[in-house]
Amino acid sequence: MTREVGHVRKPVVAVLGGKGMLGTDLVAACAARGFDVHSYDLPEFNITDTEHVRNVVETSDAVINCAAYTDVDGAETHAELAHRVNAQAVGCLGELAARLGKWVLHFSTDFVFDGTLERPYQETDSPNPINEYGRSKLGGEELLARSGCSYCLVRLEWTYGAYGSNFVTKTIERAKTGLPLVVVEDQIGSPTPTTLVAQAVCELLGQRAQGTFHLASAGYVSRFGMTQFVFERLGLDVDLRPCCSREYSAPADRPLNSRFDCSKIQALLKAPLEPWQQGLERFLRQL
Ligand SMILES: NC(=O)c1ccc[n+]([C@@H]2O[C@H](COP(=O)([O-])OP(=O)(O)OC[C@H]3O[C@@H](n4cnc5c(N)ncnc54)[C@H](OP(=O)(O)O)[C@@H]3O)[C@@H](O)[C@H]2O)c1
Repeated sequence: MTREVGHVRKPVVAVLGGKGMLGTDLVAACAARGFDVHSYDLPEFNITDTEHVRNVVETSDAVINCAAYTDVDGAETHAELAHRVNAQAVGCLGELAARLGKWVLHFSTDFVFDGTLERPYQETDSPNPINEYGRSKLGGEELLARSGCSYCLVRLEWTYGAYGSNFVTKTIERAKTGLPLVVVEDQIGSPTPTTLVAQAVCELLGQRAQGTFHLASAGYVSRFGMTQFVFERLGLDVDLRPCCSREYSAPADRPLNSRFDCSKIQALLKAPLEPWQQGLERFLRQL
C-alpha cells in the first residue's frame, strides 16, 4: 500500500506507541526519510484491541511496534497487563500481518536474558528472563515468531531519549535533591540513544530486513560509570557512591551482563555504531 504524492509513491509506515520515548524519535526519522508515517498510541489506539490493530495493518505497508508495557518494576505486580500488551497483542499483530502479507518490526530487550553469560550476548544465545517484564517480552518474541509473518525483531538495551523518562533523566533529577546517590556498579551495558535506534531502524525498514538483531551503542560501561560520566560532563558535584545489585532493593531483578554483540546488525548498517560516550555527550549538550 502506497500513497501517491506528486509522482512519488511513499510507503505507508505505521508506528505503534508513536508517542513514547522511542516512537517519537522514530516517527520523526521515518518522516525525514520520506516515508508516509502514521503514529498510533493510547488512548485512541490500543494494541490489545484486535480491531484497532486490524485497521492499522490493513492500511499500512509496514508496521513498527514501539507500543509496550515498559514499567519493569510495575510488571511484578501488573504481570497480567504486561503479558497482554507485550506478548498476546504482539502475537495478534503477527497473525494479522501474516494474513495480510505485511512486514513487522518489533522491539525486545536485553531483559530476555538472565545476564550470567561472561561475554556479550549474541542473537542465538538462549533467553532466560529473571523478571516479569522480561518474561512478557520473551512471550512477545515467541508469539511473533510463531505467527508466520515476515518480521524483524530488534533487541535494545539501556535506551534514553528526549521524549520519556529514562536512567539519564532520572539520575539528573535525583542529583538535584542534593542527597547522596547510590548506583550499582555490577550491571554492565551500552547506553543507547533512541535517535541511534531510529536511524538504524529506518535502514532496516528500507531493506525489509528479517530476523533477530541486537542493537546498542559501541562499547560498554557500568551504571555507576555511566552516572559518573553524566555528572562530570554536566559539572554536577554529587556525592556518588557505588553499590552491588544485591544491596539495591527493587521489586524486579535486573541482569548483570546486558552487553550485546551487535556484529549481525552492523553488517546491515551503512555507518559503524557510534561509541556510547558520543551519543550521551550529544544528549547532555541538548538538555
Ligand atoms: N527504554 C529502554 O531502556 C528499553 C530497553 C530495551 C527495550 N526497550 C523496548 O523499546 C520499545 C519502546 O520503548 P520506549 O522506551 O519508547 O517506552 P515508552 O516510552 O514507555 O513507550 C511505549 C509506548 O507504548 C504506549 N503503550 C502502552 N500500552 C499501550 C497499549 N495498550 N496500546 C498502545 N500503546 C500503548 C505507551 O503509552 P503510555 O505512555 O500512555 O503508557 C508509550 O507511548 C519497547 O518495546 C521496549 O520494551 C526499551
